[in-house]
Amino acid sequence: MSTYQSLSSEKLTVVLDIGSAFTRFGFTTDFAPRYIIRSEVRCKKTNKLRKICDYDSADDLYDMLVELIHIIYFKYALISPKDRPIVIVESLLCPTLFRETLAKVLFLQYEVSSILVLPSHLVALASLANDTGLVVDVGYKEAVVIPVCHGLPILQAWQALPLGGEHIHSHLKSLLSSSNTGIQNLPENFLEDIKVRCCFVTKSSRVEQLEGGKPEYAPPPDVVYPYAGTESILVTGKVREKTFEILYEEDNDHLCLSTMILDAILKVNMDLRQKLAENLVLIGGTVMTLGFKARLKEELQKQLNNDRYKVLNIHEFKFHTLPCKENYAAWLGGAIYGATEFLSMKAISKDFYLREKHLPDWINLKDINNTVSRTL
Ligand SMILES: Nc1ncnc2c1ncn2[C@@H]1O[C@H](COP(=O)(O)OP(=O)(O)OP(=O)(O)O)[C@@H](O)[C@H]1O
Ligand SMILES: [Mg+2]
Repeated sequence: MSTYQSLSSEKLTVVLDIGSAFTRFGFTTDFAPRYIIRSEVRCKKTNKLRKICDYDSADDLYDMLVELIHIIYFKYALISPKDRPIVIVESLLCPTLFRETLAKVLFLQYEVSSILVLPSHLVALASLANDTGLVVDVGYKEAVVIPVCHGLPILQAWQALPLGGEHIHSHLKSLLSSSNTGIQNLPENFLEDIKVRCCFVTKSSRVEQLEGGKPEYAPPPDVVYPYAGTESILVTGKVREKTFEILYEEDNDHLCLSTMILDAILKVNMDLRQKLAENLVLIGGTVMTLGFKARLKEELQKQLNNDRYKVLNIHEFKFHTLPCKENYAAWLGGAIYGATEFLSMKAISKDFYLREKHLPDWINLKDINNTVSRTL
């Protein structure tokens, strides 16, 4: 759909997914987000770009969200938010302060008519037309695993670790500093570009060979990455192979990406375990890395030999192939739900919000028991 149509159409509903690194938004009629922008706004005092997730206080977050929503509606979407519904795709682990402030901004500042809040892990399955799956979201700040069984997220089985783009960038920086000087002040977007263009996930057999000191073949060629006009950064073959290893190395508690998945499976009913192992759904930008899926499968198979996971009695792991890019799989699910009657049935209306003064939340027992009608 072209931009001029959005200016004239009355029925467009915005679908918004605000991540720690990227914000995706578009309309319920779209197959992909119209725009993916960085989740950052320019600070009025310092004129520097600030990430939304780096807020200092509730007021600071409020101001940043007012700015971000303004950019989304008036620079890109080109429609007025007033008296329109909006679909928000959010992580089930989203901090209460963030979701409450976002609701305040949308209802009080921009006067939207209603908000449909959808859990990202659940809606990510919508494009697969499947109601059971183990959803693994590896984004920028963290990796979150939540099993979804027959359309219900199994909350007691959730697993989260700070394994994502941010962690990989700091690991890459320390690896690069061994062969380059003056890396400490390298802006993060350069690290991200080096990571995406030059680095990849290697096989587990190759890692064993490298550790044993007898690799079967030489490392991939070094890359000279041009930086700041005349300067350059040397990205050695070893660094290219090693950058993503941080995701698969166990920490002091013996936890890593593969153990998170197996721990989540361990916490669900025995009858569902094999089904979840055969319905792994990877979402989030980091899973788009070359070799990520193949290596994760190897690591999962390897972990099954561990005594802790022998009880699982799992024979095979299978991954779904999404009909879209993984970094906007949850957004697409939000657009699918937002295009159905679900929007009018389950959205939180402005009247309800003004009466209750907060968004219903799954962690709040009062909200779970609350039978107050939330219809428009
Ligand atoms: N093709 C790619 N290859 C490797 N990494 C990628 C690719 N595309 C995006 N990424 C990385 O994915 C990360 C962002 O993923 P995503 O957009 O899912 O995060 P987010 O939703 O903003 O964050 P979070 O889910 O933690 O709140 C960034 O670190 C980015 O560098
Ligand atoms: Mg995300």
